Amino acid sequence: MSLSGRRVLLIVAGGIAAYKSLELVRLLRKSGCGVTAVMTEAAGQFVTPLSLQSLTENKVYSDLFSLTDESEMGHIQLSRAADLVVVAPATANILAKLAHGLADDLASTVLLATDKPVLVAPAMNVRMWQHPATVQNMATLAARGVAVVGPDDGVMACHEFGPGRLAEPPAILAAIEAMLSPPRPLAGRHVLVTSGPTHEPIDPVRYIANRSSGKQGHAIAAALVALGARVTLVSGPVTVPDPAGVTVVHVETAAEMLAACESALPADAGVFAAAVADWRVDNAGGQKLKKTPGGPPPALALVPNPDILASIAAAGPRRPRLVVGFAAETHDVLRHATEKRLRKGCDWIIANDVSPATGIMGGSENEVALVSASGVEPWPRMGKDDVARRLAARIAEALV
Ligand code: CTP
Repeated sequence: MSLSGRRVLLIVAGGIAAYKSLELVRLLRKSGCGVTAVMTEAAGQFVTPLSLQSLTENKVYSDLFSLTDESEMGHIQLSRAADLVVVAPATANILAKLAHGLADDLASTVLLATDKPVLVAPAMNVRMWQHPATVQNMATLAARGVAVVGPDDGVMACHEFGPGRLAEPPAILAAIEAMLSPPRPLAGRHVLVTSGPTHEPIDPVRYIANRSSGKQGHAIAAALVALGARVTLVSGPVTVPDPAGVTVVHVETAAEMLAACESALPADAGVFAAAVADWRVDNAGGQKLKKTPGGPPPALALVPNPDILASIAAAGPRRPRLVVGFAAETHDVLRHATEKRLRKGCDWIIANDVSPATGIMGGSENEVALVSASGVEPWPRMGKDDVARRLAARIAEALV
């Protein structure tokens, strides 16, 4: 499994097994994981900072009171920059400090200051491991959600036999991979998403458009991919970049958007976040409209566009199992949204107030309510990315 782009903060405590931390670093680097190492003073008796620095290709930290280290990368920042904190080997001493909240060196301070998940790989003499103090400390840590790998049974450096040997580096790597691999509840599902405005031509150089930025629809596509879905995003003209890992079909008009959506079926779910123009210009010509001095302004004959959401919701056997529409309203939001859900035949409507005072249209925040057959569920105001993640999670629950 690739850990590319992920970062581990590795704390190496002082024990004979510390030499195995070098092999762990090598395995992590091979899988693409970035590693920064913190050593306790005792660890320096077993491995050198230079070995760890060479293998991690990063500066090694050990001194809580180093002025240069603190100004470059403070102890709070060290763990904030990581996705996971791993203590390998974890001695009885560092486990006791973590269980009791002691912070008397850089390693223990980082462990107390971190807001990231922690994995410990204990290694110690069998009697120390079985001592009631260690047993109690491990129970405390487990209750706080600290993950544990090992220790293994075997003959130890002290010639005793029993549990206490550091887990082998491949086993520690597997535990790290399990903690860093996000759940993929939408693996094997295909979701269709529309996003952005449509442009309806008046002539070859002019068009009717609206203020939609595509931020919300694009964020939904990205959040669905993050949960493992295969996503087809049919996007009108926007300036936001294509989300990574998504199949993007770029269109201009509502007619093109409908055709692209129909060709993307079948899909398990459809999320229709695009602000589709309700009308197009029927008499759009192939040539630029010219002013005639003293003449009347041109009259645009508007005809209704197809309703993409309603068409896909009525697609019979090709209808996605879950159809989600949006209702951008400026007044009587929930009444209009409830009525729109029924009129368009969709399962859920994400309703929001887009009146100018809200700053939602084109902004980075949104305040929505999920309207379904079971009622109205208001969500607090949050970033459009958070709305997207929450909606993706709800879609995953609905498709199980
Ligand atoms: N929608 C669509 N095709 C259209 C118009 C709207 O797919 N031609 C979808 C939008 O993507 C959204 C939902 O329908 O999911 C509601 O869009 P909205 O603009 O709020 O509704 P309208 O149908 O345009 O109704 P009104 O303008 O009367 O509020």
